[in-house]
Amino acid sequence: MNLRPPRPERGALPDCATLRLMAGLITPASLKASLRDAMTAEPGTRVLSADEPAIEAAARCLKAGGLIAFPTETVYGLGADAGNGEAIARLYAAKGRPAFNPLIAHFANAEAARAAGIFTEAAKKLAAAFWPGPLTLVLAKQPDCRIADLALAGLDSVALRVPAHPVARTLLAAFGGPIVAPSANRSGHVSPTSAAHVLADLRGRIDLIVDAGPCKVGVESTIVSCAGEPALLRPGGLPREAIERVLGVTLATASITEEAPPAPGMLASHYAPKALLRLEADGAEPGEALLAFGRAPDFSGPILNLSPRGDLIEAATNLFSHLRALDASGARRIAVMKVPHDGLGEAINDRLKRAAAPR
Ligand code: TXA
Ligand code: MG
Repeated sequence: MNLRPPRPERGALPDCATLRLMAGLITPASLKASLRDAMTAEPGTRVLSADEPAIEAAARCLKAGGLIAFPTETVYGLGADAGNGEAIARLYAAKGRPAFNPLIAHFANAEAARAAGIFTEAAKKLAAAFWPGPLTLVLAKQPDCRIADLALAGLDSVALRVPAHPVARTLLAAFGGPIVAPSANRSGHVSPTSAAHVLADLRGRIDLIVDAGPCKVGVESTIVSCAGEPALLRPGGLPREAIERVLGVTLATASITEEAPPAPGMLASHYAPKALLRLEADGAEPGEALLAFGRAPDFSGPILNLSPRGDLIEAATNLFSHLRALDASGARRIAVMKVPHDGLGEAINDRLKRAAAPR
């Protein structure tokens, strides 16, 4: 299997119609008709507003081995059929993601997720308290787990999530099986919180984007391993404190090193914008852009505020879109004001630290 990223001159990956033909799902006559349509249609990635026909089209596309971006409450995901190794290989190629970095499998409900992972008592408690929602559980894999090996990168654990976004849930129900989905950005870029962000990174590389407006949470799900003693692998949209309250223990944090990241994708320099970041700044210098939090100092250059009233939930929602916008301003460096570390602040500071790490 060829896992190299596609060469740019090759252009778009095969679209849904081509894949359905390959799968024998459409006849040459119907292809002729659809080719006639294609002559008048925009080539590349389709963007559809998230109504019922769009969700059905996305489910059909997944069944035919296609790649679709869809909204979750955290960030937009790039979905493929979790049981289709070939589609997953194309997903890694479209993102430019190393194949040793496993994917999260998304399920319609906790019941369906039981078929893939072995739920410990702690996992059962967390699933009951927080699913559907922004929590991913890493569990030992069920022996007959039907998720393609390539998506698991050879691990004997699986990352499982039941998203809360109504469009994601309707899509999972229409598709009728698990969907593997990393964030729908090019590998190493900032995660997308709108369809426009997805298009900017993946236009022509995926079949379809289901657009349901901006994501409410704005940072990725919190990842907790319950394969052994519960441990926090990635801070995210569900604050650590809420998890600790349910488990009645303080969560261990798996230490992050470049060689052996606890969540394999947590490389030090992830989520990087083009501009350099200067953290815990009091204000911006000439030539910089300013990402403010709370009361901002006067500044005449490009400035955006994560939350003028100092609200961490609002700040998480704005984090990736503000980083993208300030990056697009052309500033060489983005000065970032201090963000408190409690609640969603842990996830925000984690992403900022990675965005600022040397590359
Ligand atoms: O909010 C989210 O979690 C979004 C939406 C789309 O669901 N998804 C997301 O996926 O952020 P991704 O691929 O960008 O990040 C998933 C992280 C990666 O760091 C990966 O290494 C880790 O989960 N991961 C996946 N399987 C794992 C496993 N078995 N053990 C430890 N970490 C795992
Ligand atoms: Mg990601």
